[in-house]
Amino acid sequence: MKTWRKTGVVLAAAFMLLFAAACGNSGGSGSGDSAPASTNTGGETQGSGQQSGDTQTEQENSVNKKITLGFSQVGAESGWRTANTKSIQDSAKEAGFELKFSDAQQKQENQIKAIRSFIQQKVDVIAFSPVVESGWDTVLKEAKDAGIPVILTDRAVDSKDTSLYETFIGSDFVEEGRRAGQWLVDQYKDATEDVNIVELQGTTGSAPAIDRQAGFAEVIASNPKLKVIASQTGDFTRAKGKEVMQAFLKAHKKIDVLYAHNDDMGLGAIQAIEAAGLKPGEDIIIITVDGVKDGFIAASEGKINFIVECNPLLGPQLMQAVQDVVDGKEVPKRIVTEEGVFTSEDAKRELPNRQY
Ligand code: AHR
Repeated sequence: MKTWRKTGVVLAAAFMLLFAAACGNSGGSGSGDSAPASTNTGGETQGSGQQSGDTQTEQENSVNKKITLGFSQVGAESGWRTANTKSIQDSAKEAGFELKFSDAQQKQENQIKAIRSFIQQKVDVIAFSPVVESGWDTVLKEAKDAGIPVILTDRAVDSKDTSLYETFIGSDFVEEGRRAGQWLVDQYKDATEDVNIVELQGTTGSAPAIDRQAGFAEVIASNPKLKVIASQTGDFTRAKGKEVMQAFLKAHKKIDVLYAHNDDMGLGAIQAIEAAGLKPGEDIIIITVDGVKDGFIAASEGKINFIVECNPLLGPQLMQAVQDVVDGKEVPKRIVTEEGVFTSEDAKRELPNRQY
């Protein structure tokens, strides 16, 4: 009897082991109860530690899944913007991402609509270049609630809650304004008379308009002879730049300097200055921001005296950030673009190498 009982216990144990092994095989190696966890359908490809076979396979699929990026662009208002759009489209293609691109035509409501549509389409990441700084919290919260990370490029938002976006990639616009101001301060350090400056601002409420004005004002304040006698928006476009400059020329007898927040407005203003029988770059000193090819041509002809560069080629940095966010890697909250400054002489030298 004893031997029977022993044999029975051994057989029962062996049977249970075999049964357990058979069950385990159907789900792969590792823990047998991995099935409920294998429902990772989102864009999150990251994960740590050992996984069951099912989860692992799903993760591999997820890693190989094409990343979908929804991008809402400001518009097509300037040469800078055209170069920026091309950089984003080319880089997305190179990275193998599916890009859903939307042009907001300089209207915030269009960007909000586009972001909501990206949320509905369940893209993996949303990126956008905000037309203006304010009024984004609601839609950014909607993206956050939907679990879709948001990346800001080129322009910032003024949201207090910085958890609403992953990172902001772009230029330091205040610094650009300071560089413009510093060049002017250096040029006019021995001025004995007032230097009358007119300013063509970018789109009202946009980060570059606010910051470029602030940085410039901060630096020129060191010389009381430097006076901004008029400042008005030209909406970052050539046509508006020309129109506003015409009005400035009518309203003010003596204009010594034009500070334009971008090349395009400066180029429009040059047309107005020439039409008024004046020589741009001589009768009126001109400072612009951006450094697009047309700006460089005007600078190399001596019509623009100083250009502060603003780099539009943000595509590669954006795609890297998208990949890092999807992979669950830490990304710095702020990624600042490197840029330089160019006098007319520098522009002449650099023109043949200018890509955009
Ligand atoms: O946000 C960047 C600015 O937007 C560029 O300086 C200007 O040209 C563009 O339209």
